[in-house]
This record gives sequence, structure tokens and C-alpha cells, in this order.
Amino acid sequence: TGPRVVLGIETSCDDTGAAVVDEHGKILGEALLSQIDVHLKTGGIIPPVAQKLHQDNIDRVVKEAIISSGISVNNLSAIATTVKPGMALSLGVGLTYSLNLVKQYKKPFIPIHHMEAHALTARLLHPVGFPFLVLLISGGHCLLAVVNGVSDFLLLGQSLDEAPGESLDKVARRLSLIKHPDCSSMSGGQAIEHLSQFGDRNFCKEIRPMSQHQDCNFSFAGLRNYFNCTIEKMENVEGIEKGAVLSCAADIAASFQHAVAHHIIKRTQRAIVFCKQEKLLPTNASLVVSGGVASNGYIRKMLQNLTDSMDMSLFCPPARLCTDNGVMIAWNGIERLRVGAGILNDPLDFRYEPRAPL
Ligand code: KG4
Ligand code: ZN
Repeated sequence: TGPRVVLGIETSCDDTGAAVVDEHGKILGEALLSQIDVHLKTGGIIPPVAQKLHQDNIDRVVKEAIISSGISVNNLSAIATTVKPGMALSLGVGLTYSLNLVKQYKKPFIPIHHMEAHALTARLLHPVGFPFLVLLISGGHCLLAVVNGVSDFLLLGQSLDEAPGESLDKVARRLSLIKHPDCSSMSGGQAIEHLSQFGDRNFCKEIRPMSQHQDCNFSFAGLRNYFNCTIEKMENVEGIEKGAVLSCAADIAASFQHAVAHHIIKRTQRAIVFCKQEKLLPTNASLVVSGGVASNGYIRKMLQNLTDSMDMSLFCPPARLCTDNGVMIAWNGIERLRVGAGILNDPLDFRYEPRAPL
């Protein structure tokens, strides 16, 4: 018998993803369908629309991943699927589809926590040992945790309001970047990063969220609100309608990106200091950064400077593995198979959980 092989299925938000990964971390097959073009048009994800798109596409996506892997479903060791946290209607599509496969092919089922999967992805590519510190920054989540094992996470802090990707998306929308010729097919975060190259990050005054709070939590809503007010002010100064693209859009993008990055760095630095004090991490420990916002080059560079100065190693999976995908789910399945944790042989009445702590 060859290496163990897992099929992973992800539908927790707006990406339909599937992949087949073996226990050596080899990605044998993968397929991903993003719904972003549809959701950009409506200015946000409408849950029943996301559900319908998952339903329309999941069979094709899973089959593409399996066929490109050259593995027959009969030879899979298990099927792993995101079951928490996420949008209820979206999670339901992946779970129902997976349980049908599980039943039809009599395979073990491995329920996966979406954020744990983001956190463990780095281990697919690099020999990152436990324990390590993880920073997850995406459109729906924002947290810092110590990862002691495959299913052993210690939460250090999280966002008290919205996630950084959500703030980036909202400011991008308020700036009407979708109308900018360079940015029409980009996510909000990508559009902000792209425009920032051409802007002055000192254009807006610096504000420091939560500088009085002696913990590792985050807050982005105040920042986002401050920048939205600045945008309104500049629309009046430039004498343009709400919805037109400001001539200083790049400056606002650069200032906002810097503010978001600065806040993330400050809270991460606090977490590292805390972990060192409490001896939660060994010297030379790793910081793993994942989630959609981790593909931001500016934020990565600041994190690199931070880890260099704190004697830590930084690992960021490549962009395509930082955003939602089936590979990270399949890999989490492999990690669980290796330690024998959370493998279900009779899962047919298994339920998803839209809200789930780490
Ligand atoms: O991980 P992900 O695909 O989905 C969630 O689980 O949320 O993250 C999507 C988020 C979006 O908010 C998007 O604007 C943001 O990641 N994002 C970025 C970049 N690329 C995607 N944010 C900043 N810079 C980027 N280059
Ligand atoms: Zn995600």
C-alpha cells in the first residue's frame, strides 16, 4: 500500500475548493472556484447566493480535484471537510456533499475547523515544529494563538469587532476601487495593496487602535470608520460625487494599509513578548502567518522585520494557500490521520457549527 491520501473539501465562505493531498504533503490534485466576481457586484456576500453557487459547482470542483490527482475515490484514506466556523448555508453544502461521498464509498470522515486548517498549512511546506505562534488575518477572522499540537490551540487574542480583510474590503468599496481601471477584478485587500504602491502612507494622520489595552486583541472598526470619514472629507475638498474615484485614492489606500499593518504588528509583538515571558514558546520559535490578508506584501515585510528583531522565524504559505482552498483542508486531514485525532467512522448525522471557538 502507498502513502495515505485525503480528499479535502472547503465551502465555508465564498470559495468552493477541493484537493487531494498525500501524507508526504504532495498535492496530487486540486480545484478551486472563487465566487468573488458575483459578490463584488452585490457589494458583499449574500448567503443564499453563495449557497446556490456552491451547490452549482461543488460536484464539478470535487471531480476535477479527484480526476487531476489520478487517485480513485475508492483509494482515498479519508474525506476531510470544513464543518466550522463559517456561513451556515455555505458549510451545509460541503457537509451534505461530503457525507454523501462518505456513505457511498464507506470512507472515514474528518471534520475540520477552518481556522485550524489555515494555521497548519505552513507545515505542508516547511518543517514548522510545535509549539509555534500563529497569526490568522483574513476577511472573516483575526486571531493570534499558540499552536501546541494538531488539535491543541491556545487563543491569545482576537478582533473585538471586524477582521482586517473586512475593513480593507469596506474601505476599498467606499473608495469605489472597483471602478479603478487597475483594480476591477481584485479583492478589496488586493486593490488597496496595489494602489498603495503609488500613494503616500503619511497622507492621513496616524491613529493607534487599542494602544491603552494591555492585551493581544485587535480592533479595526474604528480605523475603518476614521478612514471612511476622511474619504468623505476629501470628496468635499475635491468636489466630487460619492462613488467617483478620488484623485488621492492611492494616498488614502497607502495610509490605511499602513495603519492596518501597524496595528497587526503591534499586537503580534505583544503576543511574542507574552509568550517569551510565560515560556510558551522555545527560543527561535516560528511565527506562522496565514489567511487572505497574509498575502499582503507590505504586511509581510513588516512581520519579517519584527521576527528578525525578536529572534523568530517567519513562515507565510504562498498566496494561493493563504486564501481559502481545498489543499489546507486535505492537509489538516492528513495531520489528523497521522495522530489519529478526530476521525469518524459513522458521521452521517454530523452537524456543522457556524460559530466555533479555536
Ligand atoms: O482567507 P480568505 O480568502 O477568506 C477568509 O477566510 O476570510 O481572505 C479573504 C480576505 C479578503 O478580505 C481580501 O480582501 C483579503 O483577504 N486579501 C488581502 C489581499 N488579498 C486578499 N488583503 C490585503 N492584501 C492582499 N494582497
Ligand atoms: Zn479563510
